[in-house]
Amino acid sequence: MSSKVLPSSIHETNFEQNDESSSVRLLPLKEIPGSYGIPFITPIKDRLDFYYFKGRNGFFQSKIDSYGSTVFRTNVPPGPFMASHPGVIAVLDAKSFPVLFDMTKVEKKDVFTGTYMPTTKLTGGYRVCSYLDPTEPKHAQIKQFLFNLLASRKDAVIPAFHSAYAIPLFSSLESNIASSGSADFTSLNDTIAFDFLGEAYFGSRPSKTGLQSKITTWLAIQLAPLLSNIITKFIPWPIEDLLFHTFPLPSIVAKPGYKQLYAYFQTAGSGALDAAVKLGLSRDEACHNLLFATCFNTYGGLKILFPSIVTWLAQTGPALHARLASEARAAVEQAGDNGRVTLAALDKMYLNKSVVYETLRIDPPVQFQYGHARTDFVLESHDASFQVRKGEMLFGYQPIATRDARVFGATADKFVPDRFLGEGAKLVPYVWWSNGPETESPTLANKQCAGKDFVVLVARLFVAELFLQYDSFTAKVGTSPLGTQVTITSVTKAEDKVVGPSYN
Ligand code: HEM
Repeated sequence: MSSKVLPSSIHETNFEQNDESSSVRLLPLKEIPGSYGIPFITPIKDRLDFYYFKGRNGFFQSKIDSYGSTVFRTNVPPGPFMASHPGVIAVLDAKSFPVLFDMTKVEKKDVFTGTYMPTTKLTGGYRVCSYLDPTEPKHAQIKQFLFNLLASRKDAVIPAFHSAYAIPLFSSLESNIASSGSADFTSLNDTIAFDFLGEAYFGSRPSKTGLQSKITTWLAIQLAPLLSNIITKFIPWPIEDLLFHTFPLPSIVAKPGYKQLYAYFQTAGSGALDAAVKLGLSRDEACHNLLFATCFNTYGGLKILFPSIVTWLAQTGPALHARLASEARAAVEQAGDNGRVTLAALDKMYLNKSVVYETLRIDPPVQFQYGHARTDFVLESHDASFQVRKGEMLFGYQPIATRDARVFGATADKFVPDRFLGEGAKLVPYVWWSNGPETESPTLANKQCAGKDFVVLVARLFVAELFLQYDSFTAKVGTSPLGTQVTITSVTKAEDKVVGPSYN
């Protein structure tokens, strides 16, 4: 993607944001450029450009270029007939985007997947937490239930990651490479991540195998309107467009698998569900929410995030690997527990943390955010201000907003492993993957990801465990329906590793 999101080369960081009163005075009030075009026709044209002709980044960048503005009106997919109102105001720079985090300005009811919402038949008839606005009393009840679950399992995460994720992953990678010369990381991650979540959240791995394939079907039905080029190897794109983007796929297809998943959560999560009932939730609603938070929010997220971390590490190469390995090994020697990672050891791995933030910045696993204006207000980009009317939909595409050169400078478009080290810490507030600044926390009153700390912890654990085990690795990267398809082609095992015998 081009780094010319904004024309200026000034590296302004957050100075303007801190001086709102003066920026309001200085910025000219402009009409929001762009239009929604001819109903039905233009939304379909925009959808085809987005999916098949220009690609996501090309679609938005071409509009930024033609309007000379990072705030503009456009249609977003899927459009007709999935979404009756595809018209949005796009906010694509580091100044305007955070309006989506401001709960006084935007309403987040039923906008989790954007301009369409999958049927609640896929979630037991309930609107689960992700679709609730903080003004709805259920939102606080369910989010509190999830906060409590994560807090109660906080000490289980590091050992569960080691035993249920790192050990099986490394042993499969090594045996697959030995037997066939490469290992499909994306599919190993899909299988192992779900076992890890059972261990981390409930202390038991699912005894039934293959549950993760039920999740994939259920996720695909919900996300098909946002996916493209999945089956175009086999059928022409107009047919894929018709199948995926025009009408919802039948929810009945996911029903048998969903029943099995529900049964698993009912049993494995029974302790958590008891606690939910004490908070006033029905056991059934809590169980559907637990399933959604685990399978959609967490599993869906890790399905994208871990292959993305491996991709950036592989592309950056052995010099970075050597630094990460020596950092991880020194930290574990100083603050580990018998060669194992601990929180204290992780806290000494500064480069590791910077690499995780940089991956989340350059490649946010959830790329789109939406919200309806709660009232009329004035929205600001770096260069202008715009009148937004109550009810209009605001839309942010993170991969462009988090590569804003006015914040991240000339390297905004590049993966810079050290970006957040030292002075770079002042850029951490611009890491937004969780639907909020990385320096803020999810609360009952906002819509920031309930699992924010869990996600950053497991991402840091992933990098630490990887470089305790290996000095370096190589990988081939392609595309997959959700995120990247990563094939590990070689690993160099640590010669001087300090890790214990369980790794062998
Ligand atoms: C890599 C993993 C994850 C990613 C990328 C991710 C990303 C996000 C994003 C972007 C949102 C905001 C969506 C929006 O409203 O615009 C969100 C919300 C949410 N996430 Fe996560 N998430 C991840 C993992 C988790 C985990 C581990 C949990 C565990 C509980 C979780 C639970 C939730 C919930 C409940 C919400 C809705 C929050 C609310 O309604 O206030 N997520 N997540």
